[in-house]
Amino acid sequence: MSKKAIDPRDLQLGRSNVKDNEELIDFYNKLEAKSTTAFWKRANDIEPWEPVTRYVPTIWRYSELRDLVLQSAELVTPEEAGRRVIVLMNNSDAGRDNTACVGWLFSGLQVMKPGEITPAHMHTASAQRFIMEGGGAYTVVDGHQVSLEKNDYVLTPNGCWHDHGVFNDGQVCIWQDGLDIPLMNSLETNFYAVYPEKVQTPSFELDDSPNSYGGPGLIPADRQPWDKPYSPLLVYRWIETRNALYNLSKSGNGSPYDGFILRYSNPVTGGWAMSTMGAHMQMLKPNHHTKAHRHTGNVMYNCAGGEGYSIVGGEIFEWKEHDIFCVPSWVWHEHVNTSKNEEAFLYSFNDFPVMESLGVYKEESYDENNGHQTV
Ligand SMILES: [Fe+2]
Ligand SMILES: [Fe+2]
Repeated sequence: MSKKAIDPRDLQLGRSNVKDNEELIDFYNKLEAKSTTAFWKRANDIEPWEPVTRYVPTIWRYSELRDLVLQSAELVTPEEAGRRVIVLMNNSDAGRDNTACVGWLFSGLQVMKPGEITPAHMHTASAQRFIMEGGGAYTVVDGHQVSLEKNDYVLTPNGCWHDHGVFNDGQVCIWQDGLDIPLMNSLETNFYAVYPEKVQTPSFELDDSPNSYGGPGLIPADRQPWDKPYSPLLVYRWIETRNALYNLSKSGNGSPYDGFILRYSNPVTGGWAMSTMGAHMQMLKPNHHTKAHRHTGNVMYNCAGGEGYSIVGGEIFEWKEHDIFCVPSWVWHEHVNTSKNEEAFLYSFNDFPVMESLGVYKEESYDENNGHQTV
């Protein structure tokens, strides 16, 4: 059996440094027989000096997945599947064990043909979707029906009834789902329910949510204050998001680590749109190379346009439109737009709201080599 290399930091006072001997081994056996153990046997492993992720940077190339996703639509119906999703699994034991794309996050690609529906249901896990191609799709959330087009970002907060579909005159749509299923399962708090009917009958006019709450800094003045723990704006349109990024880029230099970056926020509170998962859209100007940083929290990226690469944990991951990649917790990362003329856009979702609400969000900049990792 190979022995783990000793970290010199573990040799100091305050860390566990007990050498085995016969008497102790006998003692440990007695403890184990009583469903106990000596803390010092495990302390250095379960209290690492810094976060140790069990996930690895992984990239899912759209050119390799698109045909398989489309094929799923010929093999099973959404009614049979419940949700016809091809799951993105992190290329690690933790990813396969937890059905996770990175950390306690789940992601998948879902295809819907015109006229198809996903039966209405609810779950404790929160969900969000990023429309990758097609148009004329919709989601119904607690009776609010919103229409969806390419690069729109839409919420299905936890505990809300929801169903999805593509209008008869729409196009074949592929979207990326993002959920916190692994987190809810690790907390052992995941419930699931099926709606009494196949789909919801919308209780409001189509797009009442963006029509009411989508004005810039404007919310309806004639209603009861919104008191739900998620954004009343259920869909964030691509055109408006892109224009907001262009406008942002006229002011200041942006983030050294992310270029120009906007958070999809709850217009009522200014906070995250949902309580457990957040999302961003960022824009890298032509030739822009950000500096490296790392932070707690896990991030899934989806290139919404342009091309470039990211260096994650010292490894280069080249991306172009709708390639998806992840950055696990506390892993260095930086992004590069390789185009001389075009902006590059990265959509991403994360578990930052959990990190922040637990008070464990932490960020660090990479100070060596002018802020760039060696590859
Ligand atoms: Fe769902
Ligand atoms: Fe980051």
